[in-house]
Amino acid sequence: MAYRAWTTVWGWTMSLGLAVSAVAAPAAPETAQVTVHADRPGAVIHREIYGQFAEQLGRGIDEGIWVGEQSPIPNVHGYRKDVLDALKAIHVPVIRWPGGCYADEYHWRDGIGPRGQRPVRPNRSWGGEDRNAFGTHEFMDFAESVGAEAYLAANMGTGSPREMSDWLEYLTGDGPTTLARERRANGRDKPWKVAYLGIGNESWGCGGQMRGAYYADQYRQYATFARPLGKQTLTKVASGANADDYAWTEAVMAGAAAQIDAYGVHYYTIPTGDWKHKGAATGFGEQEWISTLKAALRMDELVTRHSAIMDKYDPAKRIALAVDEWGTWYDTEPGASALYQHNSLRDALVAAITLDIFHAHADRVRMANIAQMVNVLQAMILTDKQRMVLTPTYHVFDLYQVFQGATSLPVDVHAGDYAFGGLRIPGLYATAARGTDGAVHIALTNPNPTRPLRVALALPGLKAKTVSGRLLSAPAIDTINTFDHPNAVKPVSFDGATVGADGSIMVSMPAKAVVVLDVR
Ligand code: AHR
Repeated sequence: MAYRAWTTVWGWTMSLGLAVSAVAAPAAPETAQVTVHADRPGAVIHREIYGQFAEQLGRGIDEGIWVGEQSPIPNVHGYRKDVLDALKAIHVPVIRWPGGCYADEYHWRDGIGPRGQRPVRPNRSWGGEDRNAFGTHEFMDFAESVGAEAYLAANMGTGSPREMSDWLEYLTGDGPTTLARERRANGRDKPWKVAYLGIGNESWGCGGQMRGAYYADQYRQYATFARPLGKQTLTKVASGANADDYAWTEAVMAGAAAQIDAYGVHYYTIPTGDWKHKGAATGFGEQEWISTLKAALRMDELVTRHSAIMDKYDPAKRIALAVDEWGTWYDTEPGASALYQHNSLRDALVAAITLDIFHAHADRVRMANIAQMVNVLQAMILTDKQRMVLTPTYHVFDLYQVFQGATSLPVDVHAGDYAFGGLRIPGLYATAARGTDGAVHIALTNPNPTRPLRVALALPGLKAKTVSGRLLSAPAIDTINTFDHPNAVKPVSFDGATVGADGSIMVSMPAKAVVVLDVR
């Protein structure tokens, strides 16, 4: 039965109509064992780890999200309709804006009032200009239309506590104050809800080159005045460490833990490990494939070690760890807009593995924001004038929607390694959770580009009756969706899993693939 299912999967691969000669003949499948402890529910996977980040740079917002009401591109009050619909479909829980580095040079008053009269400012961080057409009203209304919480990043680098406090009054005031009246005059009667407020961004770098202890003091001052009006609860997010800068975490926790609600960490996956020559988004070989996946796996160590420092100051885990920038970062192709990059099957696996890591740390990691939502870095969506394409990463966020708000289940994986060119990583990744729909959802990722796997799934605490699934793979490791061929990497239904008489499950897992199973 399993063999029959495997041939079905292979048949699917072949039926994509791509150069069959370019696809290596599959190696014989190995067998891996996975145990999902359905009887040992763990922490809830906060929806917010499926969050997004949209910085005012390149074509991320202008063109990607915002085209204006007069645009020939179909739009709803100036927002691209195709992009809006695609984001609603994956239930984006939270969006971070306006940066990024740009947040520390952004002044909110530039982005309110009649659009034609707003100032044009240089974007010193990423080049180009900001016409400020997409300002506070445009962002807050956009987040509301998507159904997402707003995560604003306040300017600490070139701003002041007063500027931040005025912004909060403008946004949340429900009384007769001058700033609340100004908001109403600008077209928004009801206060908005501001769920998260970042205080500075990368304050160790583009946000002001501060030292940890100094930032902690600055944070305390700003946090004191970060008070929304009315009955809102605001989660204040401290600007956390760059990747493995544990000294920063130590200093900020020692100096300000009591004032912090969430602590941000940023980590980008780059294939070469060299920021000057990061590697290409497409046309790469197996060496860059495995080095990228290995680099993505570092997230586990980073989260573990930052969490351990936080545990010292916050053993009750009141403070959330927010990985509020993560994703792949490749060399930008000549002529492309700032930080624009293609997104291949490799990015889909990076996303799946990273989300698996967040699930495993669900007790502490309670928000994450992939960088970035549209046309920038590891985007969900790419646009070219009228056209839009969903990336392989988007499809992972779609497949993984079932994990939003689900209760994590511990998973043991016994599988051989996948090795290439002197690098070695585990040969299978798995995550599982009981969804809000009652079903057990299991995601499996096989990083080996040529070898399929047979996965024997044991489920103590659950005697499975039915299993169904969806599969994401592609003919080649660097297959991308293009504007002309937007469906080269797209989820298909998966019939490679079967339930045995004892309620266990056998899965025939194709090479270089992500499978998400629904077990009942
Ligand atoms: O996401 C791009 C940039 O990466 C952000 O502006 C900055 O915070 C980080 O260095």
